Amino acid sequence: MKLLVTGGAGFIGGNFVHYMVEKYPEDEIINLDLLTYAGNLETLKPVEDKANYRFIRGDIADRSFIMNLFETEKFDIVINFAAESHVDRSIADPGIFVQTNVMGTVVLLDACRTYGVKRFHQVSTDEVYGDLPLDRPDLFFTEETPLHTSSPYSSSKASADLFVMAYYRTYGLPVTISRCSNNYGPYQFPEKLIPLMISRALADEKLPVYGKGENVRDWLHVLDHCIAIDLIVRKGKEGETYNIGGHNERTNLEVVKTILQALGKPESLIEYVADRPGHDRRYAIDPKKMETELGWKPIYTFDTGIVETIEWYLNNQEWWQHILSGEYQNYFDNMYANRLKQS
Ligand code: NAD
Ligand code: DAU
Repeated sequence: MKLLVTGGAGFIGGNFVHYMVEKYPEDEIINLDLLTYAGNLETLKPVEDKANYRFIRGDIADRSFIMNLFETEKFDIVINFAAESHVDRSIADPGIFVQTNVMGTVVLLDACRTYGVKRFHQVSTDEVYGDLPLDRPDLFFTEETPLHTSSPYSSSKASADLFVMAYYRTYGLPVTISRCSNNYGPYQFPEKLIPLMISRALADEKLPVYGKGENVRDWLHVLDHCIAIDLIVRKGKEGETYNIGGHNERTNLEVVKTILQALGKPESLIEYVADRPGHDRRYAIDPKKMETELGWKPIYTFDTGIVETIEWYLNNQEWWQHILSGEYQNYFDNMYANRLKQS
């Protein structure tokens, strides 16, 4: 089988490529990524010489490029991770979120339709459901929870989901959608809460906690997310949406304090800063459908996963130091200068 993974130089896409290249040596995994600020080929070092893996640089929203690529490659399965993914950036500059997350998804859907792709999987987010109140721990997002977005990021993701379902109903395109809670683990860009706090705490820098740090996120280890997506693509029903989460809710303050304690750093590093505009209060996934229909269960609890993750950032300081210094952006030029006719 030939799989196209878009956004495979990012955090979750990169972990997914590692997982799939190892697990399915007989499949061909093609990673298409534009290498925006968030795309990092250093993440793909462990797989870059594997026979069943190939990298292509390109924009999912570039229609003629995508159509040519699909015509040449004849993909069986397309899994779309490519996106602008950071909520704070979407508040500062929404336009690129519409361009990549909405327009890019529609271009991919058109290509899948034109070239008879057997499955298009959209990697979506629990943020499309909006948020839950802090004082109702009995409430969870199910697949039936109405879409009710807060940020330009979540609005662009919800919009993409609606196009995916429209292509299923109108054209019969074989699609699935997954909506996952907050991921953590190796190779996450250090603008996101956990790697940001680890890298800053190690440098004895102030840790900016939005508002009072009371907002709640439902943390899922990225490997559990990758396993779930693989299951959905192979066993999930066409036209269905699956929520992915592991009942690991923590307030932001709890997460930051856990990191400080593990690193032996003082809580005086915490600085409460102005809140994110429109800040979602609580995300919490009900993963029953994944568990009962596909037999999925997360391997990690937050307590085991966070310890392993902190160790990873301690043992791989070069990876994130390169990002902080901007050095990682030279990797493509250095690595591919003599390999590609054009880039
Ligand atoms: P990320 O920002 O780390 O990676 C995104 C990748 O997409 C980067 O490699 C970037 O270069 C690439 N990209 C951006 N625009 C592109 C374009 N126009 N064409 C091709 N490639 C492009 O994001 P992530 O955290 O790995 O998230 C991956 C997906 O999972 C996203 O769709 C996101 O909405 C979704 N998601 C993320 C989380 C989370 O906690 N991080 C949770 C649920 C869902
Ligand atoms: O729920 C899934 C979503 O999780 C994904 O769809 C997004 O792509 C992903 O970025 C993530 O969104 P969040 O906004 O929840 O993640 P972030 O790491 O930006 O923030 C987590 C929480 O921490 C949030 O409540 C805001 C808070 N925060 C974040 C940063 C960066 C802080 O208090 N301080 C910070 O500096």
